[in-house]
Amino acid sequence: MIDLSGRTALVTAAAHGIGRASVLALVEAGAHVIATDIDERSLAELQGERIETARLDVLDRDAIDAASALTARADILFNCAGVVHGGTVLEASDEDLDFAYALNVKAMTRMVRAVLPGMIARREGAIINMASVASSVKGVPNRFVYGVTKAAVIGLTKAVAADHVGQGVRCNAICPGTVDTPSLNARLAAQGDYDTTRAAFVARQPIGRLGRAEEIADLVVYLAGATYTTGQIHNIDGGWSI
Ligand SMILES: NC(=O)c1ccc[n+]([C@@H]2O[C@H](COP(=O)([O-])OP(=O)(O)OC[C@H]3O[C@@H](n4cnc5c(N)ncnc54)[C@H](O)[C@@H]3O)[C@@H](O)[C@H]2O)c1
Repeated sequence: MIDLSGRTALVTAAAHGIGRASVLALVEAGAHVIATDIDERSLAELQGERIETARLDVLDRDAIDAASALTARADILFNCAGVVHGGTVLEASDEDLDFAYALNVKAMTRMVRAVLPGMIARREGAIINMASVASSVKGVPNRFVYGVTKAAVIGLTKAVAADHVGQGVRCNAICPGTVDTPSLNARLAAQGDYDTTRAAFVARQPIGRLGRAEEIADLVVYLAGATYTTGQIHNIDGGWSI
């Protein structure tokens, strides 16, 4: 049983999907949670005991700097924000690559920089970065930009873990398969034939179904409290990467 009582967790992209489920799971485990997102209306639905909310666009360096009163308090950071680009290398523009790098890698790096001084001063911190099995774990068709940038998340996770393991800070990466979230459903709908595309996504999961955001949130809680684990990638993918 992971007990996060007395800890403060900051979650990015907390208004929907995996981020939202993780806010609720972290609170359930006893943490105080700072839930951040750009969707203030949906964030407002999260307000409750041991939850505070704040608008934070992780693409905005000034906004991250201005949020130092929040980031300085974080004992746990769940770096969840990310974007999926669909297509092969021939269908990816430089702009697609730049945008995905900015959101999936650079913003995550800035958040790590923002929370690290406080964690090092307290000699305790847990950083959990959202990667994907579509990364250095597995080549997935039509996920060129996504795979490149999520592989970079694994690299940044291991680098931070190696640099700060002696200062009480752990840093791990989560690599989900396909998880049933609003962004996934939007991508399925964008293909035109929602039902056929969804069935194809289910068929590629050997376990026979899509993942649930709550299942990923359980792993976030585990890694927040797993005091002997750092620098690792944690596949949670219904057997996709076997
Ligand atoms: N759903 C999947 O199948 C899956 C699989 C593997 C990894 N992931 C990763 O999980 C993470 C969350 O995905 P999800 O499917 O839960 O998404 P989601 O669409 O359900 O939620 C995404 C959230 O991100 C917020 N957001 C977007 N841009 C932002 C910004 N600049 N700053 C702050 N917040 C911003 C949105 O407002 C939204 O609340 C992403 O990094 C994604 O790559 C998802």
